[in-house]
Amino acid sequence: MKEPTLKILVVEDEPEQRSLITKMLAANGYQTKSAESVEEAILSIKSDHPDLVFSDWKLGQLSGMDLLNYVRRDHPDMGFIIATAYGTITHAVDAMQAGADDYLAKPYQRQSLLLAIEKVAKSIVLKQQNRMLASQLSQQEEMVGLVGKAPCMQKVYTRVQRVSSTDATVLIGGESGTGKELAARALYQLSARNNKPFIAINCGAISENLAEAELFGAEKGAFTGATALKIGKLEAANGGTIFLDEIGELPLLLQTNLLRFLQEGVISRLGQNGEIKLDVRVIAATHRDLQYEVAEGRFREDLYYRLNVVPIHMPPLRDRQEDIGRLVEHFLKLHANQYNHTPSTLSASTMKQLLDYPWPGNVRELANRIERFVLLGDEEEMVEELSRQPKTINTNEFSLPDSGIQWEEFEKSCLEQAMNRHQGNRTKAAKFLGLTYKAFLYRLEKYQLV
Ligand SMILES: Nc1ncnc2c1ncn2[C@@H]1O[C@H](COP(=O)(O)OP(=O)(O)OP(=O)(O)O)[C@@H](O)[C@H]1O
Ligand SMILES: [Mg+2]
Repeated sequence: MKEPTLKILVVEDEPEQRSLITKMLAANGYQTKSAESVEEAILSIKSDHPDLVFSDWKLGQLSGMDLLNYVRRDHPDMGFIIATAYGTITHAVDAMQAGADDYLAKPYQRQSLLLAIEKVAKSIVLKQQNRMLASQLSQQEEMVGLVGKAPCMQKVYTRVQRVSSTDATVLIGGESGTGKELAARALYQLSARNNKPFIAINCGAISENLAEAELFGAEKGAFTGATALKIGKLEAANGGTIFLDEIGELPLLLQTNLLRFLQEGVISRLGQNGEIKLDVRVIAATHRDLQYEVAEGRFREDLYYRLNVVPIHMPPLRDRQEDIGRLVEHFLKLHANQYNHTPSTLSASTMKQLLDYPWPGNVRELANRIERFVLLGDEEEMVEELSRQPKTINTNEFSLPDSGIQWEEFEKSCLEQAMNRHQGNRTKAAKFLGLTYKAFLYRLEKYQLV
């Protein structure tokens, strides 16, 4: 099958031959350009990007082989046919080895040239398709444990990849269960420090009065009960990486000490006069909106800027619905392995329900539900539980009254009802309305409900 819009560059130094071939090809529906030398051909290739080059072997001082080498180096998908002089089969062999798609031994019939072009045209299309497929495949489906192929996950991968080779401080944000810790571990795994310690500390889980010793260490006798020297987590991570999880919960006093470490690279143990220089890469994570925490006076602004050198946002699962199937499969396999069960599958209707579900608990919730299914094998129970959960309003079923509504009154009432139902717990009320904490708060303030 002929490619009607195929662009062919004819390279031939004999004017008569050149015009003969060009006319014949044009008469057969091809778009043609011609060149009389290798140099002219290269210029033409650069400006016109032909699909195929048909070149004579002998071209003045240079040869068709020189042109072929250039094309294969800079335009690997471009078709290339070479015409070799009578009795010079070695030329043909050389050209094929150098990557020509075909050759014609002179003298050749018109028909042979047309056939060769058609054949090469097909292979060009195939090459282009292969390239497209290859580029699709190279879109990552996972990264060190993080599963997901959605564009928002590709952004995460790209950023993780970029910063993994540096020592830059990274702040990972995102709702609960979106994989913040997993991303921190991926970052560590891909970094040059991956053979050094990775120390994780949950800043929300340590009591305020023990937190300082926990993070920075304490000299013997620094406080009652400090019967021996205590090495803090930061010091233990020396040479490696520290993961400060739930950084938003870090008490203000410790925020000051942490800032000092981030700025000067030194810490002092509790009760220590001197200071210790450390080399630790910091990765922090929080589900909170730290900018809001700063505005509320709960988080130091300077620390926020120090931490936020490279922000990474983990997208909520509802924003990457296309990954749900992949994640379900991943967790079915993972938990089947864990419990030594044969991997099971889910029916199409269950899958549909999983896709429609808003996943307020994100990937963690999905993982838990699949784990329970693997253990109990009860698909019906899972379906029933899902249907009991809050749903997004089906906008086809929901229609506005003919008389219209007062939008702001309606919105305010939704906010009030959500707050009442959750006894004023803003996090829960925000989740109930399917809003991010930040968006919810913005609206509360707008209606002066704070
Ligand atoms: N993209 C993902 N691919 C595979 N598993 C994931 C992914 N994201 C999260 N998980 C799994 O979901 C669970 C929760 O992930 P993780 O602890 O990293 O979330 P988090 O954002 O730190 O949550 P939280 O804010 O509640 O601490 C883990 O079991 C994790 O392995
Ligand atoms: Mg976490």
